[in-house]
Amino acid sequence: MSSRREETVLTALREVVGKSHVLTEPDMVAGYVRDWTGRWTGHCAAVVRPGSVAEVQDVVTICREAGVAVVPQGGNTGLVGGSVPHHGEVVLSLRRLDRLEPIDPASRSVTVGAGVTIGALQEHARAAGLAYGVHLASRDSATVGGTIATNAGGTHVVSNGDTRRQVLGLEVVMADGTRLSRLDRMPKESLGPDLLHLMIGSEGSLGVITSARLRLLPGEGGQAMVILLALQTLSEGLDFLGPDVRALEFFDGACLDAVIDHRGLARPLPVAPFYLLIESGGRPSIADNAVAVVDGSLWAYRESITEVINGLGVPVKLDVAVPVDRVDEFADAVKHLGLEGDIYLFGHLAEGNFHVNVVGNRDPEAVVDRVLELVVGLGGVIASEHGVGVAKADWWRRTTELSLLAFHRRVKEALDPDRIMNPAVFWGD
Ligand code: FAD
Ligand code: MLT
Ligand code: ZN
Repeated sequence: MSSRREETVLTALREVVGKSHVLTEPDMVAGYVRDWTGRWTGHCAAVVRPGSVAEVQDVVTICREAGVAVVPQGGNTGLVGGSVPHHGEVVLSLRRLDRLEPIDPASRSVTVGAGVTIGALQEHARAAGLAYGVHLASRDSATVGGTIATNAGGTHVVSNGDTRRQVLGLEVVMADGTRLSRLDRMPKESLGPDLLHLMIGSEGSLGVITSARLRLLPGEGGQAMVILLALQTLSEGLDFLGPDVRALEFFDGACLDAVIDHRGLARPLPVAPFYLLIESGGRPSIADNAVAVVDGSLWAYRESITEVINGLGVPVKLDVAVPVDRVDEFADAVKHLGLEGDIYLFGHLAEGNFHVNVVGNRDPEAVVDRVLELVVGLGGVIASEHGVGVAKADWWRRTTELSLLAFHRRVKEALDPDRIMNPAVFWGD
């Protein structure tokens, strides 16, 4: 953008959202242009913080008319580089859209702004004796809009499903500034496809999610039992899947060592190749000779892993899944790829979802290629819950079936013909 055009756009944006909500100073925008892991740092003309849907519409319209691309941003906890501006885009922060409407107990649902954090939503639901089904360690920053845009998974997918399963209705601002709303859907409707569901998992590339109506679950009655077990192989852990299981999480010995060293936690179990954390509504049957401990605070071992690894250096993070009957094969093969650096494996066992984290590697692209080749060879998926972003955009285009890719392209061209919505994700523009 020429500096004159940039000044004109900034003036128009200030008129819409107010001067104090258009940030341009380097120290003010720093936290918005760098991703959570520190692997990607971009730059932007401005961070704009609208306080209403009408302001979002005006901001998008101003940017489109000026030919300036926009990166919608929630909590900026995304792990695939999709939430930061890579080519000077305007960052559209949705955090001020943080309205929590009263819960409707009859339909067990609630309408909330896109900027509400998952933690605040869970608290709101809990106060009404209900629960929101998506559980993430990033809950205090990750937003409703961001989790819908990435179709976030988390630790309770085995019992509650992913974010897509919680969405009852959406309000969206499209790339041309139009507001579309399906927040007031009846519990039962047969009115054709709900086209706004295209926004789920679209990572800001089709429009801006401004509000959502979400399904709530009955409050988790009774105390859940949390058990930590030592495993020799991951597939042993799959034997614990059962109707009462709410979460089935694993991590390897390297993760546990790092958490013990950096969080000052006691070693809960003897050294083993893998550990399994089970959260269950009833007592799962565990052999008497199994090495196990039972205690709700065990979640700290699992939920500290991401932050502890980040403290060890900028990690190359890969979120992938393989068919569950191939988890042992994958875990073994990934450790024998000869990757430079320290490898940490953890994830969501019930879905075959691995987080492969490599610290101390000087060639992230090579790590991505080697691990994803392995995943594809085993019939897995290259992005299981974090999205495609920029981290896997090349691989997404390379591995998506051509007819499906053509369909994606037609949708993008129809909804965002000027390519102003987060152009770097998926398409690498
Ligand atoms: P951002 O990071 O701000 O954005 C993510 C993407 O969504 C970007 O492409 C952005 O453009 C788009 N976007 C954001 N808001 C909107 C909007 N309103 N409209 C349109 N597009 C939008 N993820 C999991 O799936 N499971 C986990 O268990 C999990 N655990 C995590 C633990 C930690 C400690 C951390 C740091 C991250 C974890 N994540 C996990 C990743 C991250 O929290 C999720 O991807 C989350 O969904 C991102 O939400 P956000 O509000 O931070 O979105
Ligand atoms: C997790 O399961 O803890 C998250 O997806 C975060 C990560 O991959 O680091
Ligand atoms: Zn995860």
